[in-house]
Amino acid sequence: MHIPTQQGRKTKTISSLSLSLSLSLSNENQIGMALDLDTEAAMNEGVCVTGAGGFIGSWLVNLLLSKDYSVHGTVRNPQDTKNAALYELPKASQNLKLFKADVLDYHSLGPAIAGCHGVFHVASPIPSSTIKDPQTEMFEPAVKGTLNVLKACAEAKVKRVVVVSSVAAVMMNPNWPKGQVKDETCWSDKQYLKSSQTWYHLSKTEAESLALEFGKTNGLDVVTVCPSLVLGPILQSTPTSTAFLLLSLLNGEYKAYQLTHWLAVDVRDVAEALLMAYKKPEAEGRYICTAHSIWLDDLVDKLKNIYPDYNYPKHLSRGDGEEDKLSSEKLQRLGWSFRSLEETIVDAVENYKKAGLLD
Ligand SMILES: NC(=O)c1ccc[n+]([C@@H]2O[C@H](COP(=O)([O-])OP(=O)(O)OC[C@H]3O[C@@H](n4cnc5c(N)ncnc54)[C@H](OP(=O)(O)O)[C@@H]3O)[C@@H](O)[C@H]2O)c1
Repeated sequence: MHIPTQQGRKTKTISSLSLSLSLSLSNENQIGMALDLDTEAAMNEGVCVTGAGGFIGSWLVNLLLSKDYSVHGTVRNPQDTKNAALYELPKASQNLKLFKADVLDYHSLGPAIAGCHGVFHVASPIPSSTIKDPQTEMFEPAVKGTLNVLKACAEAKVKRVVVVSSVAAVMMNPNWPKGQVKDETCWSDKQYLKSSQTWYHLSKTEAESLALEFGKTNGLDVVTVCPSLVLGPILQSTPTSTAFLLLSLLNGEYKAYQLTHWLAVDVRDVAEALLMAYKKPEAEGRYICTAHSIWLDDLVDKLKNIYPDYNYPKHLSRGDGEEDKLSSEKLQRLGWSFRSLEETIVDAVENYKKAGLLD
């Protein structure tokens, strides 16, 4: 896949539109291109997506473009091959501008957020292996990064900010009554997370609670969405984040110590939930976003029924693990619905095959 260079973009033309393109490099961070006339799409609401090149970010950008939003996306490294997919999305040439920004650098965020009605703050690290330095690897980008984004949003008088949190900020609460379904009133217990050194969960809990507090104190409309494990097809040429998990179940790389019970949701349904949380005037507070609850051995049986020939893990034990029960009723009351797990699985597997990640 090819990322256009600045030079490349200067010479690019869109033959289907008899429009002249102008590079609008009005500031040094902007790396996209803009149409120099008022198309219908250009007149639509402008929104910013941080972490546009990630698993969730790219699907959100895709959804927003399909609805004719004018989108500013932030990426840290425009040359990273995973960001190439963004340029290929339908309507990207008209309605997507990418900005080089790091959430740790407050000043890099302003140009991306300027002029936007809404911001979706998606960027935050997902741990890929053991965390060596939780402060720099997790807390700074998740917590300080979120506060930087919110400050920039308040400064730019953004109308609403949707922050992507996680069920990691909901479910780790040993004081919650056993067996009771967890809803948005349940928060992961920070003390418990600290003592168990569950750093990702702690960083998401800190970031989400501070985001909601920041909104209240500063008169900024902040809504949070807490997805469970996100699965589904990828838009990039290589999987990032949790897209690896389903793949690892098929290619024999699944490690037995990984989760044995999954609460999961399709990445495209997460994108819909984020848009709903942005668009619905009545949206407020936090929203759990989960669709399916399944033990891993049942998931593997489901996969085997459809795709019998892959290299599935042999010894899956439920151990003494408990099934976590979470409710997305609040989100469903906003109008959110989700696709079947079978659809997610089949679309993901077919997508991996097409991307050359599976035979
Ligand atoms: N995947 C899941 O199962 C899941 C579940 C619940 C919640 N979430 C949340 O969803 C969000 C997106 O996750 P994902 O699954 O899409 O993971 P991903 O594909 O790894 O994307 C993470 C994104 O965060 C960006 N990022 C990380 N540190 C940054 C920094 N300092 N400055 C700017 N951008 C930074 C990355 O940018 P680069 O491209 O520059 O690296 C990347 O775009 C995260 O907030 C995560 O906590 C994910």
